[in-house]
Amino acid sequence: MKKIIILNGSPHKTGNTMALVNEVSKSMDNKETEIKTYNLNTMKISCCQGCNACKKTGTCAIKDDMQLIYDDIDDADGIIFATPIYIYQMSAQLKAVVDRLVAYMKEDYSSYLSPNKKVLFVSTFGGGDIVQYTSYFDLTGKSLKVLGFGEYKTLITGGLREINELLERSEVLSEAKEMGEWLLNC
Ligand SMILES: Cc1cc2nc3c(=O)[nH]c(=O)nc-3n(C[C@H](O)[C@H](O)[C@H](O)COP(=O)(O)O)c2cc1C
Repeated sequence: MKKIIILNGSPHKTGNTMALVNEVSKSMDNKETEIKTYNLNTMKISCCQGCNACKKTGTCAIKDDMQLIYDDIDDADGIIFATPIYIYQMSAQLKAVVDRLVAYMKEDYSSYLSPNKKVLFVSTFGGGDIVQYTSYFDLTGKSLKVLGFGEYKTLITGGLREINELLERSEVLSEAKEMGEWLLNC
């Protein structure tokens, strides 16, 4: 049984970003895969306090909804980090989670995580050059690798005036399918 966690950093449960995530999920929809979605906007997740308690204990000292996410990441095969682009970066909802992932890094910079957890960034944006966003997720993927996460890929599209427009983008849809298959091919 494969387990995939979706961390939705968009405040919209049915917005552009989750529409793109749903296209990825379609290719993972089988009895051998468990897919669990967290809508971060409705969860109680504090910002990292930099207390470094996690370095000694291996767990975050803040007891909030992030503890649910830690438990699921621990036995997940892949994690989808989904976010709209907000001011050239991920949303604050998702960034709060990403900062709290520092709890996986031990004092000697090794990781508490079991290896090879795949990371997929799924994002949508309004306009501008896509390269500025892909390079941002490239940096984030490399940072997550430092924390002990595995290989990463990015799926991103922009300028959607309405969600149905996504269904006309055959290249994006086939890329979404490939990304779902890649996530399961652990
Ligand atoms: C606060 C805010 C900041 C945004 N910043 C950017 C930006 O820097 N670049 C961009 O291309 N789009 C930006 N957008 C547009 C969103 O990224 C875009 O509409 C996205 O598809 C929304 O996804 P959602 O429907 O999942 O919320 C911004 C939107 C908001 C609300």
